[in-house]
Amino acid sequence: MDKVLNKPFDLILFGGTGDLSLRKLLPSLYRAFMEGEIPENSRILVCSRKQNDFDNTLSIIENAFKKFMLENEFQTKSFTTFSQLLKPVLIDVADYKKGWDELKSDFSNRKNIVRIFYLAIAPNIYGICCENIDKAGLVIEDSRVVVEKPIGYNEESAEAINQKIALHFNEEQIFRIDHYLGKETVQNLLALRFSNSLFEQFWDSKSIDHIQISINEKVGLEGRGGFYDGAGAMRDMVQNHLLQLLGMVAMESPNKMCAQNIRTEKIKVLQALRPITGENVKKYTVRGQYVAGSVDGKLESGYLEELGSSTSQTETFVAIRAHIDNWRWAQIPFYLRTGKRLNRRSAEIVIQFKNISHNAFDPDAGNLVPNRLIIQLQPEERMQLLLMAKDMTQLKTVLKPVKLDLNFTESSKGFKSFGYKRLLLDAISGNASLFIHRDEGSAAWHWVDPIVNYWKENDITPYLYRAGSWGPSESDELLANDKREWIDIEK
Ligand code: BG6
Repeated sequence: MDKVLNKPFDLILFGGTGDLSLRKLLPSLYRAFMEGEIPENSRILVCSRKQNDFDNTLSIIENAFKKFMLENEFQTKSFTTFSQLLKPVLIDVADYKKGWDELKSDFSNRKNIVRIFYLAIAPNIYGICCENIDKAGLVIEDSRVVVEKPIGYNEESAEAINQKIALHFNEEQIFRIDHYLGKETVQNLLALRFSNSLFEQFWDSKSIDHIQISINEKVGLEGRGGFYDGAGAMRDMVQNHLLQLLGMVAMESPNKMCAQNIRTEKIKVLQALRPITGENVKKYTVRGQYVAGSVDGKLESGYLEELGSSTSQTETFVAIRAHIDNWRWAQIPFYLRTGKRLNRRSAEIVIQFKNISHNAFDPDAGNLVPNRLIIQLQPEERMQLLLMAKDMTQLKTVLKPVKLDLNFTESSKGFKSFGYKRLLLDAISGNASLFIHRDEGSAAWHWVDPIVNYWKENDITPYLYRAGSWGPSESDELLANDKREWIDIEK
């Protein structure tokens, strides 16, 4: 297999002993290392602010790997080799007096080595962190900064953060991560759409009835109440992951598969989203919050109990009927849904095609089910195409729906997609195709903000739903009003 990286790098991981680093980033680097993807002479500088974390960096990482990695992934011997890449750093991101001079001296012999600053820290200190990186003279031509969502909580605050980063790095050096874009099936969507004439011919309002995009989670707050309660599902999931998926599904073909062209096409989609404002917010959006219920037979607390608050109005569920006002998608609804503590963990895109224009079969042949393409991102990475075929077991013509099923986990031997690994390697190698341009983020906020503002200004309280359900019944009504329903892909 071709290697993505062919020269050594220095990765400076701010927030190196924080949750994101321990759960996702460092395990991804370990996986890349195990696959021989990390060139010799590379370094990972694991920054922490607390003395205790600094003193125990390696054992903190080792324990996290044992806890968060898949069974059999962690091997003590390999970890020992991997840990030689790791260098603990004691530094205060926001205070130049604490550790920055030492960090600077660390690079005196590594001036020509690619330098990646990964900000796994709170967005309100992105600005000062970039300022200090610059002040220490650490920005070289071949350096990039990687930032995590959420960048801000609305268009204005996102713009302010972006402006601060832009004082020290140019747009080509800024890599905004959305880990959904790292999922292989999402990239496969581009391959499917733009390397097969079969689908692209039918990818528009003439053939498609509607599209559903869902990210359903079984988990609740996972100890992130402080952040989540200020954000809610709209900012945490819709503004980024769901709208990115929408962009990939709805965009026009780029004339070349390069970062600039892919991003340009996605921006056009986001800018063409029909604004949902005023009374339409009530009509086309549903917000929900979970109460206690049973998930997989286990009783789970409600959001308020989990949060330890009796008053929060934050939504843990959102369903939206969206439209893209352009030639290709005129009048086609896109139903978006996401929520925590739902019945099942799954993320999928369902393309529901229209019925055939004329049924030539005898009524005895049975009802025709329109074609449907399902692209599942998790838990399995697979695609299914629902077709009508003859029931082979009967002499007379009886039609029945059958599935063409392509399971990537089975068909690509040994394949297991880890979004962060892919994105980290891309960031290190300078490939920005799967990262978000500043204008994409702004366009997404521009669409999300009026909805969130309307909810707030009009005290739209979330509908309650039981943990382990599929969200509030109003979400089903949203589709029922259009004589449609959420498609359960397991049925
Ligand atoms: C994160 C959100 O971006 O995505 C979390 O902040 C959410 O709230 C997570 O749980 C879901 O990611 P995945 O890959 O597990 O579906």
